[in-house]
Amino acid sequence: MERQREQAVVVLQEQLADGIFSMWIRCQAAETAKPGQFISMYTNDGSKLLPRPISICEIDKEQGMLRVVYRVTGENTGTKQFSEMKAGDTLPIIGPLGNGFPYELADGKRVFLMGGGIGVPPILELAKQMRCEKKQIVVGYRDSQTFLKEEFEQNGEVYISTEDGSVGTKGNVMDAIREQALEADMIYACGPTPMLRAIKQYAEENNIVCYISLEERMACGIGACLACVCKSKEKDHHTNVNNKRICKDGPVFLSTEVEL
Ligand SMILES: Cc1cc2nc3c(=O)[nH]c(=O)nc-3n(C[C@H](O)[C@H](O)[C@H](O)COP(=O)(O)OP(=O)(O)OC[C@H]3O[C@@H](n4cnc5c(N)ncnc54)[C@H](O)[C@@H]3O)c2cc1C
Ligand code: FES
Repeated sequence: MERQREQAVVVLQEQLADGIFSMWIRCQAAETAKPGQFISMYTNDGSKLLPRPISICEIDKEQGMLRVVYRVTGENTGTKQFSEMKAGDTLPIIGPLGNGFPYELADGKRVFLMGGGIGVPPILELAKQMRCEKKQIVVGYRDSQTFLKEEFEQNGEVYISTEDGSVGTKGNVMDAIREQALEADMIYACGPTPMLRAIKQYAEENNIVCYISLEERMACGIGACLACVCKSKEKDHHTNVNNKRICKDGPVFLSTEVEL
């Protein structure tokens, strides 16, 4: 389905941690959004033409609102401009985009929901919607600024890792799993590539079905420009090469489908 550009209205903007912001926006995209999908957010600055792809962190269908949680990457960036917006301001968006997590497959299973860094936010809506036997949320942060921790605690068993060891297991999410001797039948994960690579390897060694959400620089965000391809095992039927478009075919892939 062709997604229309629309004007979203900022409902609430909050700072959650150093450089990390949360924004609720009212938009039509909320009507059909699913966990693991993303929206393309445009700034109101004419010199920044390309949108910023940002994952959906929470969905409130009743109120027609989406929540995004994002990191400001520097001065004079689009994300910096988003962080300066106030309730009542408007911004153009397109969405929901991408495929989302197939969370229905987790029914009756013991599951790891894993997020690292700025890959943590999409895990929240996934945790809220997933109905599985055992929901183990394993999230990794740099330090004690464990944003969204309270929301996760309302939605499953939470295990935290921090790089500096200030909260939970010292190290990364895989260290937390080992330290706590956790086990799962299925994995859903989003985070930096080294983390996803380690999770993919662990899943394949242990025969665990694993879905990972990938991130790549994007331009069009709708499958037209091939800026965002990743290496896949199978040939893509559009391009006839071993590529998949993260924006359109993903961002969520079976770990065995892609090479990292
Ligand atoms: C599917 C997907 C989901 C994402 N979800 C989140 C999220 O929930 N929260 C969050 O903080 N970040 C998320 N990101 C990363 C986010 O898109 C970039 O941090 C952001 O686009 C950087 O924009 P900027 O204005 O800060 O930087 P600029 O330097 O001003 O960006 C310049 C251009 O490069 C693109 N770009 C730069 N870095 C990235 C990147 N890492 N990924 C894609 N495009 C990039 C920008 O979109 C923009 O077009 C996601 C990326 C993808 C692909
Ligand atoms: S960003 Fe253009 S094809 Fe994905």
